[in-house]
Amino acid sequence: APTPELSKDVKLKEVSGILLQAATADSWSKIQTFEAKPDDLLICTYPKSGTTWIQEIVDMIEQNGDVEKCQRAIIQHRHPFIEWARPPQPSGESPRLLWSTFCLSYICPYSLPLFLYVARNAKDCMVSYYHFQRMSQVLPDPGTWEEYFETFINGKVSWGSWFDHVKGWWKIRDKHQILFIFYEDIKRDPKHEIQKVMQFMGKNLDEAVLDKIVQETSFEKMKENPMTNRSTVPKSVMDQSISPFMRKGTVGDWKNHFTVAQNERFDEIYREKMKGTSIRFSMEL
Ligand code: A3P
Repeated sequence: APTPELSKDVKLKEVSGILLQAATADSWSKIQTFEAKPDDLLICTYPKSGTTWIQEIVDMIEQNGDVEKCQRAIIQHRHPFIEWARPPQPSGESPRLLWSTFCLSYICPYSLPLFLYVARNAKDCMVSYYHFQRMSQVLPDPGTWEEYFETFINGKVSWGSWFDHVKGWWKIRDKHQILFIFYEDIKRDPKHEIQKVMQFMGKNLDEAVLDKIVQETSFEKMKENPMTNRSTVPKSVMDQSISPFMRKGTVGDWKNHFTVAQNERFDEIYREKMKGTSIRFSMEL
């Protein structure tokens, strides 16, 4: 087995200006042959924006709040990740629930599926990604927080720039069947956002079921749930003794990481990079 030092000597590879994990980059041409079906539900997110959370919510809705059914497999298997499943997989019964970190331009120009995009404010996203890269053994070491600050704002992380990803999806949100929601809104009023997702999926669940879904998808529950907390992932891939996958699950943890100077600099860069977009994020609740 590789030593921890060696296993952290991970390099990303660039594809069309976007850094990706080597295995993903190497099978890029194959991944691009993925064909969506019109009744697919494709969850799209920038990393660390609440993918696992929305996946569990979607599956709970699909299973009409049946907790046992949602225990049938780990979340990564219930929502195959297109970039890892390597087409012609994933196949499966309709409606397929899938997950992708792609930008829209890479997916299916013909038969557009339903898209569910979850966005999280850039500062919390950066903090979450930093801790994730510390514990992930298949992503590069993030270095110090100061170093990572530069890496993140320059988009030199796996899946590229937060700014481009979020801006890109925001711009096209009205052109396709895209439900665009915010991590911070789910946190603020989970029932309301879960109801939106339910309607988008064409489902109709009663109040009691919705309340149950709110409870079952709380951070505390999902942190304890082996089907969502990644406890089945080997330490050689995720070393959760360094930082747990279900880390904090809050809005505003950035305040514990950003110095005053970093915050000012970030706000300035943010204004520049997000110029001309109408998207607004909550930075605290
Ligand atoms: P933190 O690192 O800030 O705690 P992804 O699934 O896209 O990788 O995102 C992971 C982030 O979502 C982590 O953020 C994780 O704790 C948070 N998360 C996962 N489940 C959650 C839940 N039920 N409620 C709130 N946050 C959740």
